[in-house]
Parts: sequence; C-alpha cells; structure tokens
Amino acid sequence: MKTMIVGGGGREHALAMAEYEAGSELYFPTPNAGMAQLGEHLWTPTGVYLDSALAEAAAKHGIDLAIIGPEAPLASGLADRLREKGVSTLGFGAEAAQLEASKVFSNEFMEQYGINRPATVVANNLQDGMMFIKGRKPENYVIKADGLAGGKGVILPHTENQARDVLINMMSQNLFDGAGKRVLFQERLHGQEVSMMALFDGRNAEVLFLAQDFKRLKDKDKGPNTGGMGSYAPITEQVAEQWQIYQMYGTLEKTLDGLKDRGITDPGVIYIGFMLADEFNGEPAVMEYNVRFGDPETQAGLTLLQDAGVNVHELIAGAANGDLGMEGEGHINTAALSGRAALTVCLATPGYPEAPRSGQPIYGLGRDYENAVVHHAATKYQPDEDGRIFTSGGRVLYVTGLGDSLQEARQKAYEAIGDDGVSFDGMQVRSDIGKKAIKAIKKAAKETATS
Ligand code: AMP
Ligand code: GLY
Repeated sequence: MKTMIVGGGGREHALAMAEYEAGSELYFPTPNAGMAQLGEHLWTPTGVYLDSALAEAAAKHGIDLAIIGPEAPLASGLADRLREKGVSTLGFGAEAAQLEASKVFSNEFMEQYGINRPATVVANNLQDGMMFIKGRKPENYVIKADGLAGGKGVILPHTENQARDVLINMMSQNLFDGAGKRVLFQERLHGQEVSMMALFDGRNAEVLFLAQDFKRLKDKDKGPNTGGMGSYAPITEQVAEQWQIYQMYGTLEKTLDGLKDRGITDPGVIYIGFMLADEFNGEPAVMEYNVRFGDPETQAGLTLLQDAGVNVHELIAGAANGDLGMEGEGHINTAALSGRAALTVCLATPGYPEAPRSGQPIYGLGRDYENAVVHHAATKYQPDEDGRIFTSGGRVLYVTGLGDSLQEARQKAYEAIGDDGVSFDGMQVRSDIGKKAIKAIKKAAKETATS
C-alpha cells in the first residue's frame, strides 16, 4: 500500500508513524526530518506543490491512499483533485472544507441543524461591525475573522478601542488575505475546552479520541496564542462527565445529519472544538469545526491508539474508501477504552511565536526513550554532513509520554526532554501541561476516600 501524507508538521509525523507501523510504503511532498526517515520525498516535476500538480504526481507514483494534514490544501480543493485522479483520499473537498474555512458558513450550518453554539452576529462591512462594538462591553464577546487565519483569527478584546482596532485591521486592511472581509461577533463563553476527533466515511463517523490542547505559550495559560504547546488524551472524568460526553456525541450525530442533508459524502476528518460552557450550565457548545486532525492533539491521540493496538491505518483507509465498517455499531471512542493516557509537550524555538529563531542543532534524537515518542515538526529535512538535525521554524518537536495514568504519561514525557532527552539551545517548553487535570484527579480521589 502506497500512502502519501501531505503536510510536514508534528501531526503529519504522528500519522506517518501510524502508517509506517501498519506497513505502508510512505511518500511525502514536504517532509520534516522525522518523516524523511520513514519514506520517500515525493517530488512534482516542477517542484510546485499546488493541488493539480500534486494530484498528477500522486497518480503517477501509484499512490493508493492520500492523507491531507493541513487545512489550506483542503480548502483549496486538493482532495477533489486527488479523487478526480482516482486516488483514495482522506480529506474533505473544497466545498465541505468550508465548514472550517468559513465561519459564516459553519455558523449557518449550526443554526440550520440546531447545534448548540454561542450567540453569533455576522458583520458584512466595517460600518456594521462598528455599530456592534459601540457601547458594548468588550469582555462579553469575541471577534472572529470569517476565513482561514492560521490560528490567529480569534480575538478576545479587552477594551472598546482595541475591538475597534482589531476590526479595522481585519476588515479594511485585508488582514489574512481577505479572511477578515467578514467578521463574526460571538458571545464570550467560559469553561473547559474539549477537542473531538472523528473519522467520517461519507455516512458514518467513528470518534478516535477526545483530547485537550494548550494554546498559550507560557505556563498557567499566559502569553500569546500559539499553534499548540501541548495536549493530552483521553480527557479525564473531571473535565467532562458522562452526560457531557453523550451530548458531544449528540452534536456529532446532528453534524452528520447536516452533512447528509447537504449531500456531503466526502471522506474526511471531523474535528469539533467544544467548550463545556458555564453559561450553558456545562452543556457543550461548538466553538469551531475543523476538517483535519488537531495539532498537537493528534500526537497524543494516535500514540494512545497505537499503544492500545488499534490499527489506525485500517481505520483511515476504511474511511477514505467510504466504509468504516461500522454499520449499526454506533460510535466508539476507541482511545478511552484502553485505560491508558498520553500527554504531549512541545519544544519551540526561542522567539516563537513572534520572531522564531531557527538553525539550532537538536540533541538527543535517534534514541529510544522509555514510554515516550518524539515527533518532529519544524526540523530541517536534510541533516548536515555529520548527521546533525537542525530546527527550522517555531514548533520543532513534540514529545509524547505514555502511562497507566495521566500523571505517569506526564512524567514520561518530561523525562524525555532536557539533558537526558531531546533539547536544543533556547528551547521554550511549558512545564505545566496536564498539571491542572492531574490536580483535579487527586482532589476527586481524596474526596472519595473521605466520603
Ligand atoms: P476557534 O478558532 O473558533 O476555535 O477559536 C480559537 C480559540 O478561541 C478557542 O479554542 C477558544 O479558546 C477561543 N474562543 C473561540 N470562541 C470563543 C467564544 N465564543 N468564547 C470564548 N472563547 C472562544
Ligand atoms: N490544536 C488546535 C488545532 O489544531 O486547531
């Protein structure tokens, strides 16, 4: 089986490891150093990786299965082009990808199918936007750009003036390539966030895992927003109770009904970003839909699935071929069944996210760590003549620990970082990934013991 994985970050390295373990022959248009060790670089004749050229090259190489990691190629129609060439592909086509690529689209979708979400107002021009802001308390709403903005499209303003500046930036300065031409104002909610990752085969969906991610750069959720500094899976009982999990599954069900109603049958990933909102008495509200695997949730989630002996390749190939083989089975949250936990920590370069400095040699790669896996993200694809691998961007490596408890998984992850693990000069690492969840587990155990 020849599998092509599009994208070159930590998520794609985790996907590559799962495919490699299942015996796939791997091809990558844009690998990082970790991926390059598992397969071949798939060149296009012109060196251009735009959708048609890549689809052409994939067909020529006899690729059996394509997995598309990032959102941009999904939104621009790579999956459509691949399917036109007869390549079995996991990924929504351009139309269905609007669920992630346009928040106006996903807002209408949620409204039509009765999906729980924060109250939302769309502004189509600057004047309407300014009217909304005037006299409203900025701490009560968030501002979202309509289109893809590389994780920077959501702003939580502190003052009315700041809200105005954001709006002007987004709407009139054509920030993010036009992504902010339209904006949404959304009621600001508070609560725990949960990422649900499911595979969709065009009819049914299987939930792979529920996870939490940590977007802020610094401990205690301080500092700027990033693409993700850590994650863990599965979510704990203290984060979501059973009834909340049922409701999240109910939302997935409504989402599938909506896709069916709209005639969307592309195989792909459905990632629902939930908030268990205080304002909704803990009921899960949808913050966003994505049509791809979460990064870094996938590094934790897939590691957990593989540890549990799940053949991730079979699931992905099944979905891509239009049959997850789960007629009448309902949804299985496979990762939660194993009783194990995985926790992922990111190593980012100095200066990330504003001005990342790259080029540092990385130490400690190529060793086996006890119950820990290292995924490459921004590593330079070619080592130097001494075989050294260098950083090449912001988020460089992800270390995922595994254990019988979240605490043990956390310990294994952190043990594999630093002088006795992987490291590079000036790396930025959060020290508190999963700490709050573990504290809540301990507190609950104490309460049970004394009651
Ligand atoms: P999104 O891209 O819509 O998921 O937003 C990114 C992040 O912004 C989410 O993970 C939340 O942390 C935050 N966020 C988005 N929408 C809201 C909201 N309505 N209220 C509070 N926080 C939000
Ligand atoms: N971890 C958040 C995302 O992938 O969007």
